[in-house]
Amino acid sequence: MKRVLIKNIKEIVQVEQQPRARVCGKEMSQLQTVKDAYLIVENDKIADFGEMRELTVQSFDAEYDASGRMLFPSFCDSHTHLVYSGSREIEYCDKIRGLSYEEIAKRGGGILNSAKRVQEASEQELYDDAMMRLDQMIHFGSGAVEIKSGYGMTTEAEIKMLRVIRRLKESSPLTIKSTLLGAHGIPMEYRGRQEAFVDLVINEMIPQAAQEGLADFIDVFCDQGFFTVEDTDRMLDAGAKYGLRAKIHANELAYSGGIQCAVRHNALSCDHLEYTGDDEIKALLGSETMPTVLPGAAFFLNMVHAPVRKMIDSGLGVAMASDCNPGSSPSANMQLILSMACINYRMLPEEAINAVTLNSAYAMGVSNEVGSIAVGKKANFYITKPIPSYEYMPYAYGENKVEKAFLNGVEI
Ligand code: NIG
Ligand code: FE
Repeated sequence: MKRVLIKNIKEIVQVEQQPRARVCGKEMSQLQTVKDAYLIVENDKIADFGEMRELTVQSFDAEYDASGRMLFPSFCDSHTHLVYSGSREIEYCDKIRGLSYEEIAKRGGGILNSAKRVQEASEQELYDDAMMRLDQMIHFGSGAVEIKSGYGMTTEAEIKMLRVIRRLKESSPLTIKSTLLGAHGIPMEYRGRQEAFVDLVINEMIPQAAQEGLADFIDVFCDQGFFTVEDTDRMLDAGAKYGLRAKIHANELAYSGGIQCAVRHNALSCDHLEYTGDDEIKALLGSETMPTVLPGAAFFLNMVHAPVRKMIDSGLGVAMASDCNPGSSPSANMQLILSMACINYRMLPEEAINAVTLNSAYAMGVSNEVGSIAVGKKANFYITKPIPSYEYMPYAYGENKVEKAFLNGVEI
């Protein structure tokens, strides 16, 4: 057994004596910490932590002195599209000139643009590009990530994307969950007969992905100009038959009924949520569905912001993720998401930290193994550079405050 000691930690943030699945409402503003602390790792798990003065004499295989530094559980990024090929800075310029996201999509740009490139790319190229992005994420402090297909648009290309995600799961130290997002956009050849495309998702993509065990979850872009609630109901029912729990894109572009649809299907999460009103909040309260906000996309597309303050004040839990993708959020830096949470959504640092650790772990079904510092959880955490306080994390936006990242107990 390998035992590692990290000593003289200025403060361990987000510790839990009794691990919870998620935190909601007022609870989000509470964050437990231990000052002047030690943490012991055994193999890939957290074995113990506490105050330095309680540390007994023991032998270790390795010791780290973290004087002046803080220790946080790794970020959980519960919504990304990070298997993709090429970039879309030309559309970015179109947007600056005034075209909307939907207008760009209608002209065959947007998701269809990325789909063409993914169809042309080999599995190896997609794997290499994604692996590079995963390495970057680790150095910004992420330890778990959900990755969606969705740039395939054909059964063959969707399965190719999911196989890439499977290889990433096998070879990356990150905790990875994969999601089949067969219904991300409507291919040109299906324009005007969207139902036929929904049939393709139901009759080919879902069964094939399930047969090969390639997906943990199923997603649909349920929104104005994309898939309707009726389409979504059909696809989520089909996914449920194969044991795929829903995590859907909803209410990014309009009050589209997507949130209520997610709750009806007992989705694990519904994501984006710029258009969330009283009815949507009511539907979410008391449900198991984690509302997940994607500040990077709202920032990059200059959209209205989800009413996060109201959601939390109404008693909801909120998770936040990067949405890393080439069209609406080309960054997987969760430290930036933390800053945006505070600045753009008026979340307290404690609420924001809960949103990007424990609640985002819940939103990808892994809060029993990551998302906080608790005995028995995976040793996924990072040690910061010398910083004065945990509030400094969202405050000092733009710089990388992570000094060392540990995943499964190993320094990366
Ligand atoms: O989550 N909203 C839908 N899908 C992605 C955008 C994908 C793209 O533009 O390539 C999102 O923001
Ligand atoms: Fe997305």
